[in-house]
Amino acid sequence: MSKESFGAAPDGTPVYLYTLKNSHGMEAKIITFGGIVVSLKVPDRNGKLDDVVLGFDSPGEYVKNHSYFGALIGRYGNRIAKGKFTLDGKEYVLATNDGPNHLHGGTFGFDQRVWEADEAESVPGRSLVLKYVSKDGEEGYPGTLSVTVRYSVTDSNELEIEYGAVTDKPTVVNLTQHSYFNLAGQGSGDILSHQLTIVADRFTPIDSTLIPTGELRPVDGTPMDFRTPTPIGARINQNDQQLIYGKGYDHNWVLTRKDNGLGLVATLYEPTTGRVMDVLTTEPGLQFYSGNFLNGTAVGKGGKVYNYRNGLCLETQHFPDSPNKPQFPSTVLRPGERYETMTVYHFLTR
Ligand code: BGC
Repeated sequence: MSKESFGAAPDGTPVYLYTLKNSHGMEAKIITFGGIVVSLKVPDRNGKLDDVVLGFDSPGEYVKNHSYFGALIGRYGNRIAKGKFTLDGKEYVLATNDGPNHLHGGTFGFDQRVWEADEAESVPGRSLVLKYVSKDGEEGYPGTLSVTVRYSVTDSNELEIEYGAVTDKPTVVNLTQHSYFNLAGQGSGDILSHQLTIVADRFTPIDSTLIPTGELRPVDGTPMDFRTPTPIGARINQNDQQLIYGKGYDHNWVLTRKDNGLGLVATLYEPTTGRVMDVLTTEPGLQFYSGNFLNGTAVGKGGKVYNYRNGLCLETQHFPDSPNKPQFPSTVLRPGERYETMTVYHFLTR
């Protein structure tokens, strides 16, 4: 495995960086701290490679600029209302780290843990297997959760992510990946002229604390309608209650799926470079977050400053607050079951 040192986690644990590549020059660099994709180089329509994810040069900067840049998210992607849920009649109290709510696994989520690289199960230069065992009670969650994530770079210019988990007690789990993409190249300005398509007829509207109300609302006639390719900036500043709550787009779309297999759920297109990113997943939901909390305080790779809406996340997931919404697809995992999901970011040009 091509492995380099990448400094140390705040507790002093050494962090390593692994490089995955394919025969077309696509290259992903991933670190054992948070399973973070620190760089992702893909070609534009002229074959020029650029790094299309925001990021930093050391684990310390990922901690300082704590907006989950490039990281694996767990145990629960997005919010759980008031940091509480009841499972099999017992109430669990989680860390509240986002106003009244629990966000992205809590104060010390998977994004800040050092994962173990399993070199025996990895394929040198092509795939990296990361493992993390989350202790019973960590951040308030029940059960010891053993998590495996395999990142692969394929010859079709795909970054493939396979998530697996098992538990020894009933628990909830919802894993995702939090890369901030800018297909014009990281640090090249805002993402408002990227065109986005989301294969979804409905979304889950939120309240003022960004918790879903429980409704599945049609996108028809709203700024949430991305059923045809639409520039992200076209409607983002409209006087719409949902956009006001989200400070822009920060919502979960209910993906239109024929089955539970891997399906195309979103396409992102950047007109100046011709880069296209297709998102395929087995998950029922997609959080589209337009980088509304980026404010120029984060200085990233190569001294690039990350301003308002300079990157966007397309996080495949189960819906936020599912543990408190019995009408949403379940996120419960029981002993003997295996959590298995897959997401692919496929890069093309047009
Ligand atoms: C959430 C945002 C949050 C951001 C943190 C996104 O997944 O939806 O509300 O602020 O992560 O960087």
